[in-house]
Formats: sequence, C-alpha cells, structure tokens
Amino acid sequence: MRPTSIEHTLPRPDEASLARSRALAARIRDAIAEAGGWIGFEQYVQLALYEPGLGYYSADGEKIGIGGDFVTAPELSNALARAIAATCAPWLESLPSPTILELGAGHGTLAAQCLDAFEVLGLTNVRYLILETSGTLRQRQQETLARYAGRVEWLDGLLDTELEGLILANEVADALPFERFVKRGDDVVPLGVRVREDGFDWAEGGRDPTLSRAVRRIEASLGMPLPEGYRSELRLVLPAWIATLGACLLRGAMLLVDYGYARRDYYRPDRSGGTLMCHYRHRAHGDPFVYPGLQDITAWVDFSACAEAGRAAGLSVAGFTTQAQFLIEALGDALIGERDRESPARLAALKTLILPGEMGERFKLLLLTRRADGLALPGRDFRSRL
Ligand SMILES: C[S@@+](CC[C@H](N)C(=O)[O-])C[C@H]1O[C@@H](n2cnc3c(N)ncnc32)[C@H](O)[C@@H]1O
Repeated sequence: MRPTSIEHTLPRPDEASLARSRALAARIRDAIAEAGGWIGFEQYVQLALYEPGLGYYSADGEKIGIGGDFVTAPELSNALARAIAATCAPWLESLPSPTILELGAGHGTLAAQCLDAFEVLGLTNVRYLILETSGTLRQRQQETLARYAGRVEWLDGLLDTELEGLILANEVADALPFERFVKRGDDVVPLGVRVREDGFDWAEGGRDPTLSRAVRRIEASLGMPLPEGYRSELRLVLPAWIATLGACLLRGAMLLVDYGYARRDYYRPDRSGGTLMCHYRHRAHGDPFVYPGLQDITAWVDFSACAEAGRAAGLSVAGFTTQAQFLIEALGDALIGERDRESPARLAALKTLILPGEMGERFKLLLLTRRADGLALPGRDFRSRL
C-alpha cells in the first residue's frame, strides 16, 4: 500500500501489527465487494474497531495509557472515581444491594478506583458488574481487579440483567460506530467507503432514508437547515444502546462521561467538517483509513441525542455538566488528594482533567435517572443547553 501523507508523520507499526492490519484491510475489501463497491461509514467503523480478532478493540495490543494510543481520565488520576463516589454514595447507601454496572471498562482502572473510593466512604457491599466487548481488555481487567475477587463479575450480555444502582460509561459512547454525511442542497448524502488502489477512500453513497430522517430531525431541533457542503457525524445506534441500558435499570442512574457537546454546539454551522478523530500512538489526526485496526476511530458525543434517548427510555435527565465543574464541586478541597501533593506528575494529571483547553470542558457528564429522587450532579447545571 502506498503510504498516505498522514502515515508518513506517524510512527511505523511493527511487522506483526502491520500484518494484522493488512488482514483486516482484506476483510474490509471483501465486505465492500460483497456490498457492490461501497459501504456506509458505520459499517467501516464496526469492522475497523470490532471485527473479531482483527479490529482495534478486539485484537491484542496496548491501547490506553502511555504505551498505547490515548489516555483516559482514570489512567491519569483517581479523581473521577472519588467524585463519583462522593456524589452517589449517599444515595446508593439506601439500597439493600447497591450495584454498579460499568460498560467498556478499559484496563479496569476506574472499577478499582471506584471500589476503593466507595469503601473509603463506608460502602463496602457494592457489587460491581462489567460488560466489556473486547476479550483482550476483559483479560486485562481481570488482572487489574484480581484483588477484588468475588466482588466483580463480568457479563456476556445484558439479557435478563436488572439492577438497582449505577450504570457507568466513561468514554464508551464515543466508541460506538457512527455514520458520516454531507449536505448537498436539500439532500443528506451518506459518506461511506470505497476501495482505492492503495487502500480506502471516502465516497458518497445513494440516498439513505433512515440517515436522511435522522439529519432532518437534527435540523428541526436546531430550527435551521445545515449549510451546503456541511459534513458531520451521527450515531444511529445510540438510542437503542441507551434503551437497552435503561431497561436494565430498575432504580438508580446512568452516568455517561465523554467528550461531546449539546446539539447546538455539536452541529454549529462553522463546525463544517464534523468531529471525527483518530488516535494512534498519542497523535490525533483525521484519516480513518490509515492502518485499519491499529488506530482508534471516534467522533464526539451529541449529548442532546443521549438525553432524548434517555427520555424515550423513561429516564429523567437529572444533570448535565462539565468534568471540571463536576470534579471541583464534588471534591472541593479534597480534589487534590494527599498523594497528589507529593507528586508533580499527579498534580499535572489533575490539571489535565480540569483545565478548560484540556479535558475540563471538552468532557461532559450526563446523568439519567429512574426512581432516584435526590440524585443529582454537583457543578453548574447545563441542562438547558441540551
Ligand atoms: C475508549 S475505551 C474507554 C475505556 C475505559 N472506560 C477508560 O475510561 O479507560 C472504550 C471501551 O469501551 C469498550 N466498548 C466499546 N463498545 C462497547 C459496548 N457496546 N459495550 C461495552 N463496551 C464497549 C471498548 O472495548 C473499550 O474498553
């Protein structure tokens, strides 16, 4: 394959990783051929991230942390877990068997930090469930959480799962596959993928009534059409994902933490290239066709869509705020923990979590509740923006 201009700027993968990427590229080419020469972007992302044994999250390899491609809040500090515990412990205490279900638990770091933080607050009977789609990350979680044996349980699916407590998803909504589109006059044209001699390329597809309807709904809620040539993304799978999680929640809350915007910021007229982003060895770029299966492909989260899906699932939108607001208000003086004071690196990590230009304002928290009066998010209430 001829390297793209972005490929030249990235560190070269080792031969075994390149061989796996070539195998995945062949699998994607087959899917494109089977579909008559074009697939939608959601299908491309599904294959690139989740194709068994080959996709980014399905295959072995370091993804999260310094030796991986990107860093998440729990890998930087335990502040998020401590703030979640401080916010939810008083409510969870009232339940006979408080349960936390974490989706996509990465290395299991947030789970360990949460169990510790709840224990410090006297909540020692928390049952912790994890639903993880990646076999290799599940194994990693089992290693991280070995000392909590008996308290953590991994689920294979959500069928028949019912719980009272908290459903937690840090940077999982952004990992759900998404569609891309471009506005051409009044039409919504899907942006998908075709084979190019040396790899893959963007290509416009035929009319997709489901995608068109979804974009029209966005335009209706914005009160204006998106401009000519506007490109962006949307997750058609999101409502079903939230409905499935909501159905498991008999009583309690679902907390989504992710980089994203309320809809009017997400689809701002001047954000005309969308929010698609790829992460490879801590370099962020916009080419999803580089090294398929070796880089993360993501787009920001439309939190208004999450709130709508929550309401449709019978949940109440109980809070929406930024990560900075949440951490500072939930923890106050305790934001800087004792061990943080001793370490410049830990202090720097905390700054990354709360500075506006870093994760502080790009990351938001959305709290959806069912029969959980009194459970709310500390920090400025931005629900009116949704
Ligand atoms: C960006 S990582 C975030 C990891 C972790 N939450 C953290 O903060 O470090 C996304 C995680 O979600 C998992 N994942 C993706 N789609 C999922 C789904 N539908 N259900 C559960 N886990 C999922 C991935 O395998 C991965 O563990």
